[in-house]
Amino acid sequence: MADLDLRRILDLGRWAPSGDNTQPWRFRMTGERTVEVLGSDTRSWCLYDYRGIPSYMAHGALLETLRIAATEQHARMDWRLRDGCEETAPVYELEFEPVDGLVADPLLPFIESRCVQRRPMGASPLTSAEMTALVDAAGLDYIVDFRTSGGERFAVARLLWQSARVRLICPEAYETHRRIIEWGARFSKDRIPEQAVGVDSLTARLMQWVLADWKRVDFLNTYLAGTVMPRIQLDFIPGLACAGHFLIRPRQPIRSSLNHVQAGMAMQRVWLSAARLGLGFQPEMTPVIFRWYVQDGQALSARAPVNAAAVAVAARFNEVWALSAEAPAAFMGRVGRGAPPTSRSLRLDLDELIVDDKQVRTEAGQ
Ligand SMILES: Cc1cc2nc3c(=O)[nH]c(=O)nc-3n(C[C@H](O)[C@H](O)[C@H](O)COP(=O)(O)O)c2cc1C
Repeated sequence: MADLDLRRILDLGRWAPSGDNTQPWRFRMTGERTVEVLGSDTRSWCLYDYRGIPSYMAHGALLETLRIAATEQHARMDWRLRDGCEETAPVYELEFEPVDGLVADPLLPFIESRCVQRRPMGASPLTSAEMTALVDAAGLDYIVDFRTSGGERFAVARLLWQSARVRLICPEAYETHRRIIEWGARFSKDRIPEQAVGVDSLTARLMQWVLADWKRVDFLNTYLAGTVMPRIQLDFIPGLACAGHFLIRPRQPIRSSLNHVQAGMAMQRVWLSAARLGLGFQPEMTPVIFRWYVQDGQALSARAPVNAAAVAVAARFNEVWALSAEAPAAFMGRVGRGAPPTSRSLRLDLDELIVDDKQVRTEAGQ
């Protein structure tokens, strides 16, 4: 029986994307061919991790990455979600099995280089071969819609502009914004480094100063149109400067957390395929997330105007993507041309992600 290097598989798996680089997972090596992924989420402090859905999607991205990583050693990976887990602490049981003749997945070389491009990208049109590759990567259970013409990109940029205002005037989002950026950094192991955020350094300095205190944010928003500069740089210009926007939506309604995990697997295949095509890629999840709140009739904020603005974002989203209010949507993003970013998020070291039994018991308070 061929030996498997499980650490190598997990080491590659670490590069899976997660919302704000939160890496909501730990690994427990339970045997020579078995691993448990201990999932978690950030809903207790992150407004965007609505019902833990983005974290479930990140778990899916991780599982898909581990599956692809295993093909380097000609192994297949089977997994199951353990029955009866807490909703906020899903455990995925993984088993690897060498298979004669199993070839390396073509997406394998892109696991580590795949990353977010938040800056403006080249807008030369996507070829039909590129679009087909992205649609195929999502798989048969998903529809991938594109918005690529100048007029369509303008409409999406307007949606992003509107959604970004909600993000910036919402006091409940402040804690997230304060926590997730590593200021002054080009690389960050557990957050988003400043230089990957997508603003110039002057705006970054202003953001850093303002984000130190919610009162400053509120004052700037109220009296100095404080949302305008970041929205132009982070949302409106990138919304225009790309080859197109896309929406991945499931053919069937989403019924369980497992369906979110599956959507995350599709997202990661599309993202890795974009990397394989040499395309830059950025998720655009805030309008999707605000629409989830609205679809469930959940308030985003204690401030009524913020909730009213979220309802308007959801309506605009439906208009842009020609969807009914109830239609499920999993993942929105943009792709474009150009050199890869010079700044990116890194990951926690593998040894920081591997836990032993004692740690698991301590973290669970036992
Ligand atoms: C479910 C999900 C949602 C995300 N939403 C956004 C988003 O709305 N905007 C954005 O710029 N990046 C978004 N990201 C990208 C993460 O911030 C990024 O993957 C993480 O910081 C790690 O960086 P890397 O992908 O460059 O390695 C999202 C990622 C995931 C998995």
